[in-house]
Amino acid sequence: MSLERSQLEQLSDLVAETKALLLAEKARGVLYLPVSSEGNLGDLSAEVSVSQSAPSDAAYKHKKTSYSPRRKSEPKADVASRNITDIVVPSALKGLYEESRDCTNCINCNERKNVVFGEGSLDSDLFIIGEAPSAIEDMRGKPFVGPIGEMLNKMLVNVLGLTRDKVYLVNAVKCRVRGGKAPGADALHACNSYTRRQIDIVKPKVILCLGDSAAKVVLKESRGVEEMRGTWHSYGEVPVLVSYNPAHLLKHPEFKRMVFNDLKILSSKYDEVGGVK
Ligand code: URA
Repeated sequence: MSLERSQLEQLSDLVAETKALLLAEKARGVLYLPVSSEGNLGDLSAEVSVSQSAPSDAAYKHKKTSYSPRRKSEPKADVASRNITDIVVPSALKGLYEESRDCTNCINCNERKNVVFGEGSLDSDLFIIGEAPSAIEDMRGKPFVGPIGEMLNKMLVNVLGLTRDKVYLVNAVKCRVRGGKAPGADALHACNSYTRRQIDIVKPKVILCLGDSAAKVVLKESRGVEEMRGTWHSYGEVPVLVSYNPAHLLKHPEFKRMVFNDLKILSSKYDEVGGVK
């Protein structure tokens, strides 16, 4: 039996989503999953707390018709597994968050379960920009969760002395890209204004771009991390440092030393500009 490319992509999505679901449940302390008579996991998703009201189904349907509707061969996860998020959005960012939840500016709106808007407090002096949500972030509606998030949390505490709640975390692209691929120019362009407006509202003292995509959005740069790291750039008046994404470190641990050095540079600047710990 030979599978078409689109079927392979669906299969790979399904595997990634199942893996993410299991990891998320494990992180919540769930060791065994009940199997319902329909053989799906609908009951489990109902247990997750929902503190942000999710867009209605009507909004989702409207969204699908306004940007490249899904092909019949691409069934999407059922409604129960979508829009489950317990993120807390500061009131100054609520309008932008709601705008992003209804966004249909690029094809990835058809792929998401949740828009991964970002997380943190308005008092954050450090604003960190990653690339795009993976399956687990898509499911949880939060940036940097799962093993990559754990690595980032450790980097923040061990090198900068900052806990995660002290920084504002976003991704350059707010919706999961099919198959976990790197975001294309269309997605970066579509999300650009969200990220820039987030920065303008949070008003951080320092920005850290983790990966090429983040640097492209903030600095309008086409150079890669290897060329841009190690020196300061700027977004208006705000100093910007570029380094490798923790996802890269999971695959290539030999880069950890470079990231450690980058974060040391960041730490000195953070202290110099009076960043709060
Ligand atoms: N998870 C995220 O939310 N962003 C990344 O850049 C990588 C993993």
